[in-house]
Amino acid sequence: MTSWKARLAEQMPPELAREIDIYETQMDLKRQGKVEDKLFAETRLRRGVYGQRYDNGQRHDGTAQRTLSFKSRELTKGRETLWDAPGMQRIKIPFGGLTPDQMDVLADVAEEYCDAICHITTRQDIQLHYVHIDDTPDLMRRIAAVGITTREACGNSVRNVTACPLAGVCSDEAFDVTPYAKACAHFLLGHPDVQDFGRKFKPAFSGCKHRACGLTTMHDLGFIARTRVEDGVEKRGFEMYVGGGLGAVPYQAKLFDEFVPEDEILPLSQAISRVYARHGEKKNRGRARIKFLVDKLGIDQFREMVLEERRALPHDDAWTDYLKELPAYGEKPLKPATKLNSGATNAAFEAWRATNVYLQKQPGYAVATVTLPLGDITSWQMRQLGDIARRYVGENVRNTVEQNILLRWVSEADLPGLHGELTRIGLGEAGAGTIMDVTACPGTDTCKLGIASSRGLAAELSVRLAAKYQQLDKAIQGLRIKISGCFNSCGQQHLADLGFYGVSRKVGGTTVPHFRVVLGGQWEENAGSYGVAIGVVPSKRVPDFVEQIADKYLNEREKGERFQDFIKRIGKRELRVLVDEVATVPPYELDRSYYSDWRDPREFTLNDMAAGECAGEIVSRIDFDLQAAERQYFEAQLHSEDGNYQKADEAAYGAMLAAAKGLIRTQYQDIIDDAETIVREFRTRFYDTKLFHDKYAGGKFAQYLFRRHEDKVRTFDEDTTRRLFEETQLFIEASYACNGRIMEQSATAQAIGNGKPALAARG
Ligand code: HEM
Ligand code: SF4
Repeated sequence: MTSWKARLAEQMPPELAREIDIYETQMDLKRQGKVEDKLFAETRLRRGVYGQRYDNGQRHDGTAQRTLSFKSRELTKGRETLWDAPGMQRIKIPFGGLTPDQMDVLADVAEEYCDAICHITTRQDIQLHYVHIDDTPDLMRRIAAVGITTREACGNSVRNVTACPLAGVCSDEAFDVTPYAKACAHFLLGHPDVQDFGRKFKPAFSGCKHRACGLTTMHDLGFIARTRVEDGVEKRGFEMYVGGGLGAVPYQAKLFDEFVPEDEILPLSQAISRVYARHGEKKNRGRARIKFLVDKLGIDQFREMVLEERRALPHDDAWTDYLKELPAYGEKPLKPATKLNSGATNAAFEAWRATNVYLQKQPGYAVATVTLPLGDITSWQMRQLGDIARRYVGENVRNTVEQNILLRWVSEADLPGLHGELTRIGLGEAGAGTIMDVTACPGTDTCKLGIASSRGLAAELSVRLAAKYQQLDKAIQGLRIKISGCFNSCGQQHLADLGFYGVSRKVGGTTVPHFRVVLGGQWEENAGSYGVAIGVVPSKRVPDFVEQIADKYLNEREKGERFQDFIKRIGKRELRVLVDEVATVPPYELDRSYYSDWRDPREFTLNDMAAGECAGEIVSRIDFDLQAAERQYFEAQLHSEDGNYQKADEAAYGAMLAAAKGLIRTQYQDIIDDAETIVREFRTRFYDTKLFHDKYAGGKFAQYLFRRHEDKVRTFDEDTTRRLFEETQLFIEASYACNGRIMEQSATAQAIGNGKPALAARG
């Protein structure tokens, strides 16, 4: 058979074709041992080829160990991962825009190269899992032939440029941001000024300020469409934000400029990129996002530096070329606008219409949301959906950050027929944007960093909530749930009414999956404020917690009170009581169900009760100390709620010291209660020895304590306190993890007959 390279030679844009050839050559060199692991990893990531969990041929699908086939077992592609093992391929979809032809090809490659599932991500991308690295060049060629690139989908580069999925059809927007998002994606892709970042960089466009859509405030670079009348003429521009981001410590972006004229957005993006590349952190990944640079310099100084850079930039026609084509830009509806005749409908259609249909600003047209459970669509469904799109809307399809697909420009009269077609392919479910439509990151299913099963929990919650959806009060139906498998926030839990992220806890020496509860995040106002972390709930009790908090809201809310305002009003103390009610984990002998995660019958840990017994004394004391740290952290939150930021700051710092002291006590019982001594001892015993280091985050979390300790001149305001809280929480979490590792080591040491537990030996 002719190779894909030869078959598609005429159809691929020459630049993309050349890049894929280069990538393939690098793979050859890697096979011959001529390229270092580290270098190849960066090459691979820049093309969206990612390592994933269970990729060394040891995938456990919940019932049995499965062996996946791949060739070379000796070369690694990063820490402990064989370099050519099946991995994940992220495919960039700028502003989520898809066409039926692209959908067909995505369906083909998903079927031929992976598990026949396309996964829609929280940034409008598509991911394929279990792809063999040998197949990636052809996969890239096939999608390049329909205008899609994977370039810079991962790595320290400009990631997918996202935008409101309703751009162009929304009644609230100032104007359609689509051509601007497209131009920005095109301009920054592979640009020489964006090749030297210390970390990833995510731009987003929104059509208005008050709804959510573009989620600009959680992005590295955010644009909100605005117009302004100058000399009687309406001018287009953008309110521009910089330095937001979720991840371990979430930051709200800062306002860069209230109105940047449309012809200035690309040169300013370039100038920002240059400043970030030159001044951003490079060595310490944990501080390398632009949010840290903006925070360190302050937005005023950062702005100064950018404007100076802007003045020095050599002119580039690409800054404004796309604006010339703007007057001709516009999506074309496939069919004429026709109002829906209200007679011919049924109950399932009405339910779907109530949640999944948005009436466009263009009369007679609607947007239909195709709800995808967990963001997954099979290759068969993708192909069928492409075909449906071809017949109803033509090219007008978009992915959403809530992991669904939109069909835009549906003639209203076609809605019942369209719903019937979607139902036929299993995609006619109602509930888009409601409490049933849970967002989840890949979590422990495929992500190496996952701690708890975000997808398992999301599936469980969706099924339970769907079963009783009709009985729920409207106020509850409209709440959003978002779940991440760990603190990295890929599931965007900070933006949800009810957010959760995976953590683990030792109970009687055994690891139990838990989720930290984050409540009251704001989706509107472009993710205007983030939720607050309340406490930790065992994974298996999260559905009970959701029920209880929903009941409480329903019974105790004031007239018209929004969930976020309710959470603020009742405060952490009361919410904590609710968490504590479901926090207890029964001993393993009494109820084993707590010791495995949702949709995964395996026991959560391989290390069973032996660990608890062998290190009994140390376990109980350190547990007690870590609990004390948690308590202090909680007190800090209460101070902050009272507006006493200085006290909150001191208590949070005290909580970190308490956790550090607890760890030190496992080696050195008589450590005194003095900050200087605690930090010094912690540094020598846990940081310098790397005992505190996490396999993936290294010593990042220890830096939080060191920085706060060394920072003698503090400002006490809401922003700073909030950040310190996030850091404190992560430091305590890392202390739990460190203790868990130490217990496991000492259990192993005892099991193999080394005599004393490792810790006692150091004591
Ligand atoms: C292979 C598994 C993955 C790994 C190892 C990973 C790693 C990370 C890390 C370390 C962060 C936080 C660091 C930072 O940017 O500040 C992060 C954030 C994020 N990731 Fe992932 N990720 C994975 C998969 C995904 C997937 C599948 C999605 C989309 C569904 C995703 C979307 C995001 C988003 C939206 C954020 C935070 C938003 C932001 O700060 O801009 N990630 N990821
Ligand atoms: S939040 Fe954690 S578990 Fe989920 S995808 Fe991101 S890194 Fe993985």
